[in-house]
Amino acid sequence: MVINDQSTKFAELDRFIDELEISDKSSALIPVLHHAQTLFGYLPQEVQSHIAERLDVSVAKVYGVVSFYTFFTMEPRGRYNVSVCLGTACFVAGAEAVLNEFEKQLGVKSGETTEDFKFSVIPVRCVGACSLAPVVMINDKVYPRVKVSDVTEILAEYKDA
Ligand code: FES
Repeated sequence: MVINDQSTKFAELDRFIDELEISDKSSALIPVLHHAQTLFGYLPQEVQSHIAERLDVSVAKVYGVVSFYTFFTMEPRGRYNVSVCLGTACFVAGAEAVLNEFEKQLGVKSGETTEDFKFSVIPVRCVGACSLAPVVMINDKVYPRVKVSDVTEILAEYKDA
């Protein structure tokens, strides 16, 4: 969902929270954060504070969850998130070299976003597809058994996007 206006994003976030069919809204913290990140693209302080107030939890608790999970970010990310799995199976199968190649070709380090905000390179923990190691995901698309020599071709898919 792409909404450009900030107040509309907050209104949509409130609607999502209001429609939660549970009495203890604090237990919905993770799905609410997911929804907020989809709306805003990241989770800045003002969004975290708003969620804390609406779910009646402390700002510290929200911050703790956001900083624990690698799929949440407090910085704006690129349009395409290049998630390179560094879980054990992927690491053993050569994921670190694949990660290095993405960093090299995009000119950024892990966790950083290209200047044009097109790509972010994100090391992630096991994504649950170990039989396909090493695994890379670009947004929701999964690339199995990625080799260093595949990186140029993968990025070419997004060149004109
Ligand atoms: S370790 Fe990469 S998918 Fe499990």
